[in-house]
Parts: sequence; structure tokens; C-alpha cells
Amino acid sequence: MNVEASNPPEPDVFSAEFREDPYPVYRALRRDRPVYREPRYGGWLLTRFDDVLAALLDPETFSSAQGPAPMPSPGLGSIAALPATDPPHHDQLRALVSRAFTPRRVTECEPRVEAIARELMHALPGDEFDLVPALSIPLPVVVIAEMLGVEPERLPDFRRWSDAFVGLLESTPTPALIEATQELVGYFRNLAEERRRDPKDDLVSALVHAEIDGRRLDQGELDGFFIILLVAGNETTTNLISNQLHILSTRPDLWQRLRADRSLVPAAIEETVRFDCPVQNLGRETTRDVTIGDVEISRGSRVIVSYGAANRDPAAFDAADEYRIEREERRHLGFGQGVHFCLGAGLARLEGRIALNALLDRFERIEPAGPAPVRLQSTVIRGFESLALRGA
Ligand code: HEM
Repeated sequence: MNVEASNPPEPDVFSAEFREDPYPVYRALRRDRPVYREPRYGGWLLTRFDDVLAALLDPETFSSAQGPAPMPSPGLGSIAALPATDPPHHDQLRALVSRAFTPRRVTECEPRVEAIARELMHALPGDEFDLVPALSIPLPVVVIAEMLGVEPERLPDFRRWSDAFVGLLESTPTPALIEATQELVGYFRNLAEERRRDPKDDLVSALVHAEIDGRRLDQGELDGFFIILLVAGNETTTNLISNQLHILSTRPDLWQRLRADRSLVPAAIEETVRFDCPVQNLGRETTRDVTIGDVEISRGSRVIVSYGAANRDPAAFDAADEYRIEREERRHLGFGQGVHFCLGAGLARLEGRIALNALLDRFERIEPAGPAPVRLQSTVIRGFESLALRGA
């Protein structure tokens, strides 16, 4: 008997190897333990496309009310953010901001996003640069800050706060993380106060004046909106841009194809969100006993939905481990699915497209430079802390 096959080794989703390349672990889990009790998350990790999709489409059973982090974080307190609510309240909250993200509003942002990308390209230190601080971070940060109505001089704080909040999603809160999150909340409370007195054409003004069933949003709801828009608006798109360039810097054939035919750029962005999605794993909590495959999961259990694993499931995608911009199946889960489907997907696609076009305009070739890329230390967000490139 093959002991290996009947008793495969326990995967470690918190290891350095996993952070470098989680896909071999996902492959083994999908095959051997598609509903896997992950000891450190303390929940059931789903890795098959159909299981992840079914959970996302059934918020009554797989609730977000305990928060979307893989494990609930005590540091997040009573923040009633959009991804931490269930219908029907969720849908009322979502309706308040969805107007800011309609395709028309996103198209209206295009000239401004292009101008910001141009400025950043202009400021590149030379043909050898770290993409992350040069373009991946500042582009989405400036865009979402301007949408919210934040003063440009607060942008460095913005990034620090947002990083701290992401830290809270998966680690035991440290005093420094909590303090940064409190600073962020304090900043937005002041800004909200100003906009109550003196409204402007920005999202903070819209939210402080918005009503649900004749009442204004309470403090927890407002805090939740500001935080989620800040975090979701930049940690994710930053890593889309980095992951995109990481792939293309080792694929000179694709770089040339994209330079020659820019109509392929949106397909490249979409394939990156499938192939190496910035949001890899989030959580839900069961509101009743459920059976997935042959595993019984009791009510009140944590379930981790792995978008990253689902997007590489060969049952859903031909040659799932290959990066193919011409692929026809586009039903990936990189932006989630169901009621929590990413509100900013249109904006993220626009930012990704503009960032890539700006680099394609500037460089005939692009390749990795030293030092070696450094991956983010996260099991939720997949991307880079630094990514040195050389353009020519
Ligand atoms: C490549 C970039 C992005 C990726 C990969 C991404 C991914 C996701 C995913 C997977 C979800 C679902 C969460 C869940 O199932 O619980 C989500 C939700 C969300 N995203 Fe994004 N996102 C991106 C960019 C953005 C941007 C630019 C914004 C806004 C400026 C944004 C705002 C949101 C919001 C508000 C939600 C919560 C929606 C709800 O709960 O109804 N995202 N995103």
C-alpha cells in the first residue's frame, strides 16, 4: 500500500514556502483534503472551485457577520464594515456606496487615473526601479484618497494605517497595529465632522449625509465604510499591479504581444486576477450544520474560502496552472462572487489597465533586476513588498 497517498503530509499554510508559492499546497488539498480542518485558522479550508462558489452564493448558511478575515480578529472590535454584514442590512449599506462605483463613475475617473500614472512614470528614478513604491502603492492610494476626499499630505499615513489594518486581519493584534488603526478611525471621524458642517463632492460627505430607513449611519457603520474603502481600495490593486508585472517580467514574448496589441491588456489583467489573485483567502461562519463533500461541519464553525485555490482548480479551468490571456473561461473568483462581489472590481480593472499601459508605453522590454523580489508575509493578500525591475 502506498502510505504517502493514503496519508498525505499535513500542509502548512503559514510556512515561508507557502507564502512564496501556495499553489502546490492548494493542489494537494484540492485532491486529498478538499474540506480541510486547518489547525491555526481553526476552521475548514475550502479549495475546490464548486465548494467555494457554493459557499459564496449562500450567505444565509455562510455568514459574514463575524467578519471576513480567515479567523475573527478581536482587534477589529465593533467595526460594522460592508464585508462584515449579511443581507438584508448588507444590501442597504452597499446601496449607499454602489453609486460611486457604477461603470459610468469609473469611466469618469479614467482621465484622473491616467494623469496620476503619468506623473508617477515621470518620477521613476531611472530604468531600474522597485515597482512597489514607484507605482503599485501610490497609484491606488492616490485614487481612493481623492475619491474619499483626503488631503494629499495625509497619503503616507494612509498607507501606514491601511497596512496596519491588513495586519489585524491575520495576526494577534500588537499595540502598534491597534494604535495605527485607532489613528485611522480618529482621522476619519474628524474628516466626517468637517464634511457634516461643510459638505464637498466626495465619498465622506456622501456617507455622512446618507440615510437608511430614515436614519443616518451610526459611528460603527461610518468607521466601517472608511476603513473598508481605504483598505480594499489599495492593498488589493497594489498587488494586482505587482503580480501582473512579476508575471510579465519573465515573459518577454507576452510583453511584445501586449505592446503590439493593446486590446489584449484587459484580458491580461483578468487572467492575472485569476492566476495569482491578490485576495487569496477570506472567512465565513456557518449558521447551521452543513455537509460539504463527505465532511460534516457544525453550526458556528469557521469556513475559509480560498479564492486562490478555486481559481487554479482544473475542474473549472483548462490548464489551470498556465497563464493564458486568450482563455475563454472567465468565471474566476478573484473578485469574489455573490452579494459581496467586489464593489471596486471596475475601478481595479481600470487602474490595472492604466498602470500596465503606462509601463508598456515606456519600455520595449522589462525584466527582473536585483535584489530578488520580496513576497508579502500574508496568507490573505498575495503580492510583493518589493519587486525590482529593469526596463529598456
Ligand atoms: C485587484 C483588486 C481587487 C481585488 C482582487 C478585490 C477582491 C475582492 C474580493 C475577493 C471581495 C469579496 C470579499 C468577500 O467575499 O467577503 C471584495 C469585496 C470588496 N471590495 Fe474588492 N478587490 C479589489 C479592488 C477593490 C477596490 C479598488 C475597491 C474600492 C475602491 C474595492 C472594494 C471592495 C468592497 C467595498 C468590497 C466589499 C463588498 C461587499 O461586502 O458587499 N475592491 N474585493
